[in-house]
Amino acid sequence: MSAIKEMSILSARVPGAASLAWGLPSFRTPSPIRDAVARALETNPKIGMYALPGGLPELCVAAAQEHERRTTVRRDPERHITITAGNMQGLNTLFHVIVNPGDEVIVTDPGFVSHINQIQFSGGRPVFWKLHEDRGWEPDIEQLAGLIGPRTKAIILVTPSNPTGCILSEATLRAVAGIARKNGLLIILDDPYSHFTYENSDRFFNLATAAEYADHIAYLFTFSKAYAMSGWRVGYMVMPEALRAEIVKVHDLTMICTPRISQVAALAALENEPTHLTDFENILGRRRALICERLDRLAHVFQYARPEGAYYVFPRVLDATDNSTRFSHRLLQEARVTVTPGAAFGPSGEHHVRMAYCVEDDTINLAFDRMEAYFGS
Ligand SMILES: Cc1ncc(COP(=O)(O)O)c(C=O)c1O
Repeated sequence: MSAIKEMSILSARVPGAASLAWGLPSFRTPSPIRDAVARALETNPKIGMYALPGGLPELCVAAAQEHERRTTVRRDPERHITITAGNMQGLNTLFHVIVNPGDEVIVTDPGFVSHINQIQFSGGRPVFWKLHEDRGWEPDIEQLAGLIGPRTKAIILVTPSNPTGCILSEATLRAVAGIARKNGLLIILDDPYSHFTYENSDRFFNLATAAEYADHIAYLFTFSKAYAMSGWRVGYMVMPEALRAEIVKVHDLTMICTPRISQVAALAALENEPTHLTDFENILGRRRALICERLDRLAHVFQYARPEGAYYVFPRVLDATDNSTRFSHRLLQEARVTVTPGAAFGPSGEHHVRMAYCVEDDTINLAFDRMEAYFGS
């Protein structure tokens, strides 16, 4: 059980708990997408039927066009694109394809908790690449080569990061790509958050724009966050041709196809102007300012690096005598505030907690009012 879900389940048992645990945006799926699905339910006789395992051809075309628009890299819809039931399913499929028992995949430490579990679930071993808090959660590129061995298959990156909210520098990403290519490793880019970079959009670099590495990259985009479609379960994966052939087999064996209705929703998302994105980013930007201001008032409890993107902040708990799991459980039971223990995100996450600020302002305020009452302001 991922610590994020575990805390959310525990939280549901505490009446009125103010939860900052789950990165579930408060937004509604935009109306052009909902309207297109409503129309398709009435008019499309195939709406309730299977689709081909790789995805609806028109959605693969739209995804390839979107990928080219965002990265300038042209990929063939039939040879390089497959439609996933979200990045979680895409990654699980990918790990089943590339990981044999005992193989290794490099993950950042801290990194997204489910990556660690998914690699283990495929019989593999996550190898932690430390991010340094005092350098804005950047890794030390010199250390990477030392982590690569004969069993290393891939390295997985998320920027902006879950859980730190930090953006990896272009220099780091290019250096990783060079090292990965030299060692024959697949670079996996898990991208739920690149639309949320606030005033740091100039600093954000999508490694999928580097055409010279396209044959070494599996890029996974999810509609869950940027389009508020987490329950639809849909995304797309752009990858080398040989890999796609295997991915489609595993995808077929596990779920046959991404639900057609969700693919229709994703197509509508790509065909309509994403005017909602500015609103989403503005609202999240305001919530980021709010949570930082509230954290500043608890400077005797938490110390944090200002998040640059996504919608997480990963403060250090200054009381080092407590571990993050005990701290989070106590906070829930005694203050009715839910956070995710940092230790779940890797060894360097210990003594931190993750707070998701994609929830309503009232929830952020309630959580911090309670923490101020609990810890003293
Ligand atoms: C880094 C990362 N990858 C994947 C996911 C899951 O994405 P999806 O809803 O597309 O499965 C999340 C969700 O929080 C995430 O933060």
